[in-house]
Formats: sequence, C-alpha cells, structure tokens
Amino acid sequence: MPVAPVLDPSSTYGFSDTDAFATASQDKIGSGYVYARWANPTVDAFEAAVADLEGAAGAEAFSSGMAAIAGVLLSLCASGDQIVAARQLYGGTYSLLTRTLPRYGITTRFEDVSDLDSIRAACAGAKLLYCETIGNPVIEVADLPSLADIAAEAGIPLVVDSTFASPILCRPLEHGAAIVVHSATKFLGGHHDLTGGIACASVPLVDQIRALSRELGPTLAPFSAWLALRGVATLQLRVERSCASAMKLAEMLQARSDVDAVNYPGLSDDRGHRLAQRLLGGRGGGTIGLTVSGGKVRAARFQNALRLIQPAASLGGTHSLIVHAASVTHTQLSEDELIAAGISEGFCRLSVGLEDPEDLIADLEQALEAST
Ligand SMILES: Cc1ncc(COP(=O)(O)O)c(C=O)c1O
Repeated sequence: MPVAPVLDPSSTYGFSDTDAFATASQDKIGSGYVYARWANPTVDAFEAAVADLEGAAGAEAFSSGMAAIAGVLLSLCASGDQIVAARQLYGGTYSLLTRTLPRYGITTRFEDVSDLDSIRAACAGAKLLYCETIGNPVIEVADLPSLADIAAEAGIPLVVDSTFASPILCRPLEHGAAIVVHSATKFLGGHHDLTGGIACASVPLVDQIRALSRELGPTLAPFSAWLALRGVATLQLRVERSCASAMKLAEMLQARSDVDAVNYPGLSDDRGHRLAQRLLGGRGGGTIGLTVSGGKVRAARFQNALRLIQPAASLGGTHSLIVHAASVTHTQLSEDELIAAGISEGFCRLSVGLEDPEDLIADLEQALEAST
C-alpha cells in the first residue's frame, strides 16, 4: 500500500459491463468514478482530508478559491436574493458580489464586520451572511460565534472564507458557520504551485454545491489535488512557523517610527487581539498589514528595495510575499471604497513565509531604511 497519495490523472473510467456504466452514470453525485468532472479519487482524497481538518461531514473541491466562493453563492442564491457580507473582503470576492452576481439578480449589502447591530438588521429577509475569519487585507478578526447567532436568528446560513486562518487556527463550523470555504492556493497548498479552492459543509449542503459544480464544471484538476494533499501534510508545521515569525516581524515593525500602523491580531493592542485569543488559539496568523509612512510613493520604494521578500500576489506559502493592496489585490475598489475598507495609500499586506525570521527582519529593516 503506497504511503504517499496516489495521483490518478484519468479523465474517464472504462466499464466492462454497459449496464454498470449506465447505472453509475445516472448518479453523477455518487462516489463511483465515471468521468473526472463528476469525481476523481485524488480529488476525493483531498476533499476528505480538508473535511476532516474542518470537522465537516463533506467537502467539494474547486479549481480556485474564487470558483469555490462563486459555486457556494450560486448554489444557495437565486435571482431576487440578497446577501449580507462583511465589508472586509478579498477584492475578487467584492467584485463578484458587486459586479457579477447583480447581473443574475443577486445583490449584496455590505456592513462593517464588527458592527453586529447593523449586520443583525441587514440579515432580516436576506439569503445568507458572508464573512472572512480574518478579513482581507486589513487583518480584521470576525466574531464568528456572534455572527453565527445572528444568522441563526434570521434563519440563514453563515458562510465563512477561512483562507487566512486555515483550519489550524480556526474551525468555523465549530463556531456555528454552515459552510467554510478556502482558497487552497494559499495555506492548504502552501508552496505557490497550485490554484485550487474547497467548500466544507454538511452532506446535504455539499450535495447542493456539488450538483451545481458538476454542471458549471469548475473542477479541481487531479494533479493540483495531489499537490494540495502534499501541502496539507505539513499544514500545521507551516502555519505555526508562519505565525511565530509573523509575531516577531509585527513587533519589530510596530517599534519603528517610519511605519504608521501595523495590523496584526497577535499584538496585544490590536483591535482583533481579544477575538484572536478566543477564536485563533491566541495566534495572529501568518499575514500582517503594515502602513508605511510616506504613502504610495514610499510603499513602492520600500517594496522595490526588498531583497528576500518578494512583491507578489498570494499568501500562505513557503516564501514571504508582499503586496500594495490598493494597486494589486484591491484594484476593484474605488477610492471611496478603499477608504471604507480601511485601505490607505501606504498599506501593504505581508504574507510571512518559512524563511529564517531574522533574515526577514533584516530585509524589512534595510528596505525601510533604503526607502526613506
Ligand atoms: C481570502 C481570499 N479568498 C479567496 C481568494 C481567491 O482565491 P483564488 O485566487 O484561489 O481564486 C483569495 C485570493 O487571494 C483570498 O485572499
């Protein structure tokens, strides 16, 4: 029996008996293997691993995090429905909610993730409540148990994008969420070499999501599932290391006079610290928000001066990456929307990788000094 996961790249499966073929083809949601858009053993193994990590009964994998989010929202909503979403969201999700879904009659009302009264009021008559465990890019921790209570009062599901937290820091289903989604491109994969997504939930919800996914076809490729399984094997070690290094970097950055603000819930004076203590096991995650003094021009000079940390999109992997949010991850937001989301001109999002934290500190220090 192989110890490593088996990669099965087959897109189709032969049958020696045409009756068995016909029977297997009738139930495209079942677990038999007929055609890879319906099911594939390597993808199934990845789904089982993440469902287990999240404490979910099932999971459906997708070709990207955005495919997972779109798949979940489209399987739960129809024309005329309204979503209530936290304002602190990944730019692609914001764009999906504000530009694409309205074309299909699905609208969204945004509220600040910490404004529980406004969220409660907005949920009356809504179809679902949506938030991120750690809001992108301003690293704001969501009060998941309170949001789940609000959703339950309104009789609607809470859908949580937990990409920034990973199941190592938080398992949203245990706090009352109905569905948890991830961009597997980030911590789950962890090596900057695959694009994927996954949604975890109860069996009936996963079946509902799967039925839509098998018609739309945003299937995860077997090789990506295999890479993601390899990533999952080291998830805990990578996340713990990334959190420990991020804490050191956040403390260093906070002590500098040429950094205006540091958003990191591991810091005791951060607005999300108490929630991080309760929901993230006291850890602050692997991602830091930092606002360099000197606005956009200095932010560009600072990033250009970095030697180890790379200006690159994405997060949650082996290598430390930095982005200027307003010009990379949140370009979909207007100037007013950027201000409302708390993204200032000098704001950068730093994803802390697995390098030696002392090397990362030295790199940040030299780049801050070189850019003054
Ligand atoms: C929180 C969050 N959710 C979803 C996504 C989208 O994931 P993907 O790029 O895999 O489609 C991203 C991408 O950065 C993200 O940061």
